[in-house]
Amino acid sequence: MQLTDNHALITGGTAGIGLACARLLAREGAVVTITGRDADRGAAAAASIDGPVRFLRADLADAESVQELVHRAGVVDILVNNAAAFPAALTVDQRRDAFERTFATNVAGTYFLAAGLVPGMVTRGHGSIINVTTMVASKGVPGAGVYAASKAAVESLTRTWAAEFGAAGVRVNSVAPGPTRTEGVQAEWGETNEELGRALPLGRTAEPDEIAQAVLFLASPRASFITGSVLHADGGGSAV
Ligand SMILES: NC(=O)c1ccc[n+]([C@@H]2O[C@H](COP(=O)([O-])OP(=O)(O)OC[C@H]3O[C@@H](n4cnc5c(N)ncnc54)[C@H](OP(=O)(O)O)[C@@H]3O)[C@@H](O)[C@H]2O)c1
Repeated sequence: MQLTDNHALITGGTAGIGLACARLLAREGAVVTITGRDADRGAAAAASIDGPVRFLRADLADAESVQELVHRAGVVDILVNNAAAFPAALTVDQRRDAFERTFATNVAGTYFLAAGLVPGMVTRGHGSIINVTTMVASKGVPGAGVYAASKAAVESLTRTWAAEFGAAGVRVNSVAPGPTRTEGVQAEWGETNEELGRALPLGRTAEPDEIAQAVLFLASPRASFITGSVLHADGGGSAV
């Protein structure tokens, strides 16, 4: 049990990588809060996790909803910024509303949630923030422009926050997953995700639990001297 007595909040913890993180952190002793927009999905996800877990409905693209989440969250020792929009569109085809929703969710939502929860971490003198970004934040992939740019912004925030909060004992890191088999990405990217997986040195897509293991490591005391970093959990994709 690496996370006993820790309260973890995982945005987008009702499906895919976020749900895998919630299961793993709960198994390691954390008291877990998962968030998402769909209350039925949230209730079903919470019921599928062993251990103390609750679901809070929140839409990261909505500023008021983010502030409400900050107020309802209570003590948070571990924040996993995982919820995201990942539209697939070539630059010439990108719709403006999808562009704005992506930056509202992935950048503004992540930013103001962290800004609202960090003061508590600073007061308590400890905390760990893990931003789930993407391999394509540092690679050119056709059709991933808006999504990749939003996650590159989050990797920049990771470095800024490490510098701002390190002295108070709060660590901030990113996990940059490669293509991972989830229903959400399958619905948006279809077979392209499996094609990206086949092009990796490891030659396949990841299972959500393989990404969650990287998140757990950064959340745990085993990563006590690691802050401001990007852990590439991408089957070698960023190495080639
Ligand atoms: N799967 C991949 O290949 C891959 C690769 C690299 C990086 N990633 C990153 O990994 C993270 C998780 O991806 P995934 O594939 O696990 O996605 P997923 O299966 O579609 O799950 C997304 C989760 O986020 C929630 N969510 C989506 N939009 C939200 C919003 N506006 N406000 C609040 N919650 C929201 C969803 O719940 P509701 O729909 O009910 O709100 C769900 O719980 C994302 O940050 C993604 O960019 C994924």
